[in-house]
Amino acid sequence: MSLPRVLLTRRIPEAGVALVRGRVELDVWEDELPPPSEVLRQRARGVDGLWVLLTDRVDHGLLDAAGARLKVVSSMSVGVDHIDVAACTRRGIPVGHTPDVLTESTADLAFALILAAARRLPEAAALVKDGGWKTWSPTLLLGLELSGATLGIVGFGRIGQAVARRALGFGMRVLVTTPRQVVDPTVTQVPLEQLLEQGDLVSLHCPLTPGTRHLIDAAALGRMKSSAYLVNTARGPVVDPKALHHALSTHRIAGAALDVTDPEPMSKDDPLLALPNCLVVPHIASATVQTRDRMAVKSAQNLLAGLEGGPLPWTVNPDAKKGTGYFSGPEK
Ligand code: GLV
Repeated sequence: MSLPRVLLTRRIPEAGVALVRGRVELDVWEDELPPPSEVLRQRARGVDGLWVLLTDRVDHGLLDAAGARLKVVSSMSVGVDHIDVAACTRRGIPVGHTPDVLTESTADLAFALILAAARRLPEAAALVKDGGWKTWSPTLLLGLELSGATLGIVGFGRIGQAVARRALGFGMRVLVTTPRQVVDPTVTQVPLEQLLEQGDLVSLHCPLTPGTRHLIDAAALGRMKSSAYLVNTARGPVVDPKALHHALSTHRIAGAALDVTDPEPMSKDDPLLALPNCLVVPHIASATVQTRDRMAVKSAQNLLAGLEGGPLPWTVNPDAKKGTGYFSGPEK
């Protein structure tokens, strides 16, 4: 009996690949960069499984190219905004993702950015490198003290909650905004407007959806304190980049620290990079050895479950098998 064919769109940690070895016929895209969409479509033809990353757009075109054999889309990411989940569901294709295992590493990076922004680390490091460190000065590079400051957390899911735990350890007051009712006495739930007006730091942890695209626009930035910092480890398009550039360059807000940008990757000529009060790192929130191993393993487990026609352990569309799409076929 032939093995199911799977396209893996980049090299990923061996911990995940080892799980599928001998159980699937694996075609790995070996380049450092993601496959261009045309190439992706060609390579996806006739596969049983697509094992993808957040840099791969999984849309109608790719699903059509893969064709009727496709049983599962497994993404090594927690976010699934790169996948047309509704289209997968209609075709009866389950979509797997990797929640939980990256919560702590992402919260660590968010907090690293909070500290870096509040204590102006990029400006401080640049000053030393440029020979500007003349003496100890009572007024040099004064930043924001976290203890006693207010952190506004936009999106209070797993990662937002992990950031709140860290903030409480630093003696911060924590405001949160989320559509759900929060039952946590250590934080205060407020409307977004109030959070923006009161936060000394605002940290974004909501998914990218049509409702959160450009949630932080000129009006939202206009509500923030002129001494406040914005931190984004969610998704780039949650922030309007032009409005952010204007707010930073006119000192409408004090600074920003971004792990995610719009577009990604950010060009080295992006105007945000010319601003001393904007720190940008290249989407590395989950980039620890431990987390990436666990993400590879979870995505492999999702892949294998989908290939076997069973429920995925971590899926965003548990109803996919009930889909009425033209590829869904009869239940096994
Ligand atoms: C990272 O951004 C992820 O969604 O896994």
